[in-house]
Amino acid sequence: MSDQVNNHHVVIIGGGPGGYAAALYGASAGLDVALVERSKVGGTCLHVGCIPAKELLETAAVFRHVRDAAQFGINTGPPTLDWSVTLERKQRIIDQLWRGLSALLKGRKVTVYEGAGRLNADSSVTVTGADGSATTLRAEHVVLAAGSVPRTIPGFELDGHLVTTSDEMLSIERLPASAVVIGGGAIGCEFASMMADLGTRVTVLEALDKILPGCDKDVAAVVARSFKKRGITVRTGVPVLGHRPSTDRRTTTVDFGAAESIEVETVVVSVGRRPFADLLGLEATAVTVDQRGFVEVDALCRTTAAGVYAIGDLIATPQLAHIAFVEGMTVIKDILGESPLPVDYERIPWAIYCHPEVAFAGYSEEQAVAKGYEVVTSQHRHAGNGRAMIIGDTDGLVKVIAEKQPDGTGGRILGVHMVGPWATEQLGQGYLAVNWEATVAEVAHFIQPHPTISELFGESMLSLTGRSLH
Ligand code: NAI
Repeated sequence: MSDQVNNHHVVIIGGGPGGYAAALYGASAGLDVALVERSKVGGTCLHVGCIPAKELLETAAVFRHVRDAAQFGINTGPPTLDWSVTLERKQRIIDQLWRGLSALLKGRKVTVYEGAGRLNADSSVTVTGADGSATTLRAEHVVLAAGSVPRTIPGFELDGHLVTTSDEMLSIERLPASAVVIGGGAIGCEFASMMADLGTRVTVLEALDKILPGCDKDVAAVVARSFKKRGITVRTGVPVLGHRPSTDRRTTTVDFGAAESIEVETVVVSVGRRPFADLLGLEATAVTVDQRGFVEVDALCRTTAAGVYAIGDLIATPQLAHIAFVEGMTVIKDILGESPLPVDYERIPWAIYCHPEVAFAGYSEEQAVAKGYEVVTSQHRHAGNGRAMIIGDTDGLVKVIAEKQPDGTGGRILGVHMVGPWATEQLGQGYLAVNWEATVAEVAHFIQPHPTISELFGESMLSLTGRSLH
């Protein structure tokens, strides 16, 4: 029984990047927005995802720089890590961003309801607070943005110590001396990179034949080589069979492949994330979900129930915070009757923050060929780049894929793929080139500052015109 009924223009369930973006964007357009959140606004991204993971990766980068400082004539002695300070710094950044976001929502007059939101058959939303109180919210439009949770593997029950996911690893009390990372996707590679740089002996077990299976093969190969150089063991094409904790539960032995095993202190399961619709009560509504549990939507994130949208990790689009942002804004535009363009998922920016960083937009070479394009590609490595040498970080590659013109030169730019220092910050002009449907000749015309790593992008364009400089 609900004891209170409140009316709004839009009710959003879930205060992560999808939900809060929709709330802020809707409120700035003058809509009366309610945001329902059962924990803290900010979602996975802020509390157990992008922000803490990148903060820990930055700690790893600082550790590497100090360790390698002697090559610059700076002698510090071997660095040591005070993990408790690391965790405190990470939490301070999260808290600061969380307070900022809360203030922003308040400033825009978004009404935040604390509690679990459930969609009812009549598209009203019931919010159940921690104290059991129930509030009913009515609105013409409801946005489901409840996010995702880590997938697990049968036989690997989580205990936050021997067996973890990214959720527990981001706050683990002590970095393990040895770890197995199951799954070599974005999360697996980020954790493997971070832990190895901070002194953990890491083994990555990946079921497919390469790590970072969603990336261009040449880019993934650069990461694999760097991992090998830094002592990370990567085993691909291996099934994981199970694990056997020691009697004192200080270590566990992971069985994999053809009768192989390895004893480690911690297992990090990073085999993907599943949509978290568990509390939404969708069975009683006209909203349909697919076999994997993703809420079914059309190109504008409309579900099968009138007036109900779903965005972010709850739907089968790339599970990235910036995709949730754009989906949230698209939904608000649709609610406002502004006929938004659907998101072009084939040209979105991707950014993976392992060392070396990976960033790309558009088709990989394999994807472009599979789509039937005749392509021409260029690859420029960081090894010959002045700035990369100056910073002492020459593992990297810029690869551009373009449509092949009759004279053999590059035409329209189909994909830009980068791996190397600051690749996630470097992608900008590659992203614009792909999404502007620019040609190689148009972009080759532009000037890159010298000395910068972005010269590799400029060189790629020049060489695809058939005439290169360096
Ligand atoms: P993922 O889907 O990117 O990668 C999972 C990996 O695990 C795949 O390579 C898969 O082949 C492998 N795998 C699955 N089952 C396995 C098994 N039983 N044994 C061995 N390997 C197995 O998922 P991930 O890395 O957990 O990330 C979840 C989501 O979050 C992804 O959609 C990812 O794009 C997103 N994410 C993106 C980040 C970024 O872009 N920087 C950072 C963190 C997450």
